[in-house]
Amino acid sequence: APVDTVRIVEVGARDGLQNEKTLLPAEVKIALIDRLSSTGLGTIEATSFVSPRWVPQLADAAEVFTGIRKVPGVRYPVLVPNLQGYERARAVGAQEIAVFTAASEAFNRKNINASIDESIERFMPVLERARADGVAVRGYVSTVLGCPYQGAVPVTDVVRVAERLRALGCYEISLGDTIGVGTPAKARAMLRAVAQAVPMHALAVHFHDTYGQALANILACLEEGVRVVDSAVSGTGGCPYAKGATGNVATEDVAYMLEGMGLHTGVDLDLLVATGAWLSAQLHKETASRVTRARTAA
Ligand code: HMG
Ligand code: MG
Repeated sequence: APVDTVRIVEVGARDGLQNEKTLLPAEVKIALIDRLSSTGLGTIEATSFVSPRWVPQLADAAEVFTGIRKVPGVRYPVLVPNLQGYERARAVGAQEIAVFTAASEAFNRKNINASIDESIERFMPVLERARADGVAVRGYVSTVLGCPYQGAVPVTDVVRVAERLRALGCYEISLGDTIGVGTPAKARAMLRAVAQAVPMHALAVHFHDTYGQALANILACLEEGVRVVDSAVSGTGGCPYAKGATGNVATEDVAYMLEGMGLHTGVDLDLLVATGAWLSAQLHKETASRVTRARTAA
């Protein structure tokens, strides 16, 4: 029988760093991505070509993207909010991008200064250019299990936005619990509803761990059939425009759980733990990864 495989999308260099108050030098970001490239991860989101006024930490996107070692076979997608971001990303040779919107109008207004409709309109020329250039495009839907401004988010809104991103040409839709409020039964029901409209193989899950539910939510979604999981090494992360949100689920913890379930990831856990410990030292922060804490305890 074929080995059951899960693709991990490492978002630590983007989601993980975008909310860090202390500006990290580009060399450290480059070193982080180069270390991640040696762990066996197949997809490493590298940075974000958003407005430097909105996310100062990633103002060095071009320098970082240019400086990283591009390991053959590893993909290095970057976040792009509009055509201007697309042009900046392409100028340094990005081959894969991600566009992002939300299921909640209130969140979108705070995060990208646009309604859902306006964001989709902005993406149209980006997707057109990407298609012509042979650039793969992923789509993110934020606030799929709750919004910091609007509260509850109807599942029908998540389905509709995911469907629209797919119709625009996104090869994969990542469903984001931006503020980490979801619980397993809700996560499962949400994924099941979206999978009626977008095939499961084109879906990914993206959990922040604010309430400590992320691994449980991932397990529920794996049981439902998803095979792409976003996570950030050392459990860093958060969106500057989602107050109260904490880090992404830690890649080390996801990899440990998947390995324990017999699901293949291709990731070397020891190298990942070493990278997570190194990053938390760079950030002068205790790691949020339970696995890294367990493996590096004195
Ligand atoms: P705006 O202010 O409405 O943009 O921001 P604008 O088009 O009116 O332009 C204003 C100025 O920004 C202009 O400069 C533009 O040139 C410049 P000025 O003429 O005033 O000097 N500008 C740019 N500069 C560089 N690169 C660009 C760019 N675009 C405009 N791409 C905008 C709208 C979307 C740009 C802004 O709101 C923005 O950048 N937002 C990004 C916020 C962000 O990055 N949030 C975090 C990522 S999303 C996330 O974390 C969630 C996720 O992880 C999933 C989950 O957890 O749910 C993905
Ligand atoms: Mg996120």
